[in-house]
Amino acid sequence: MKPHAISNESQLNSAGRLIHLLGLKGLPKKQLEKILDVADGLIDKKGNLQKSKILRDMSVANLFFEPSTRTRNTFEIAAKRTSAKTINVDLANSATKKNETLMDTMHTLKAMQIDMFVIRHKQNGLPHHVAENIEGVSILNAGDGINAHPTQALLDMLTIRQHKKTFDNLSVAIVGDIRHSRVARSGIQAMKTLGTTDIRLIAPETLHYKEETPGLERFDNLKKGIEGADVVISLRMQKERMIAADIPDEQTYFENFGLTPEVLKCAKPDVILMHPGPVNRGIELESSVADGPHSVILQQVTNGIAVRMAVMVILAGAF
Ligand code: CP
Repeated sequence: MKPHAISNESQLNSAGRLIHLLGLKGLPKKQLEKILDVADGLIDKKGNLQKSKILRDMSVANLFFEPSTRTRNTFEIAAKRTSAKTINVDLANSATKKNETLMDTMHTLKAMQIDMFVIRHKQNGLPHHVAENIEGVSILNAGDGINAHPTQALLDMLTIRQHKKTFDNLSVAIVGDIRHSRVARSGIQAMKTLGTTDIRLIAPETLHYKEETPGLERFDNLKKGIEGADVVISLRMQKERMIAADIPDEQTYFENFGLTPEVLKCAKPDVILMHPGPVNRGIELESSVADGPHSVILQQVTNGIAVRMAVMVILAGAF
């Protein structure tokens, strides 16, 4: 299934209220701003995250069919900080290994009184399929194939807003394996909705989108692409989604598309450097950039808790 063929319509009910979070395409600007505002309200002036009892009567299940450190753990922490009961379904030892269908697994877990399911899967559109075939629970997409990673994009928007205040008049450069990046797809959808018009895509030809990208400028030269940028988003090389012919030689890739302090000087002096993680040091960027003064990579991780708390309390109908 092609990413752009997947519909997010089932995430809003007839009154326009969010009942699932499947993707950001089609979500109104007001809805995105509401999630960011609720997340902001969960962070105090010292940058500490608040706790809440809003989900005290609810249970949240994490189903991660692909590996994760940031998303899985921050969803668990977010659920616990809002007083939900949480389980991480041990998929390697579950009945899915005895050929139980995914929907039978989902209905079985729902019978255990689970209210929200956080799902990561390699198949594009899998969380959407589940949402359309189960009632009375919320589905949160924690990354499906190359299609969408909505909470990552939202935490990225929160991080940008904390530094740049507005999305208008921003120049954002996205560098790396754009073709296989669900983070980039959701991020571009969010930025377009929030008003950013200067979005540049920088990659070797094999890692650019195959589909048309109206309104987005494509570059194959890193320095030209990041010239005067306010935000640089470096992306992970997703070898697990590539065919052998697409995998670039790492040394050549770093020489042409790797971020170094010298290259970063082409951007604005107050540029922020983002990366969804995990970082491949020495391939996508130098350690001196990943850990340098422009990097907000660890702030992105912390913001992931606030954003995931915000999404879950909104889905619970609290805002
Ligand atoms: N950004 C992200 O999705 O990281 P994880 O794979 O560690 O969850």
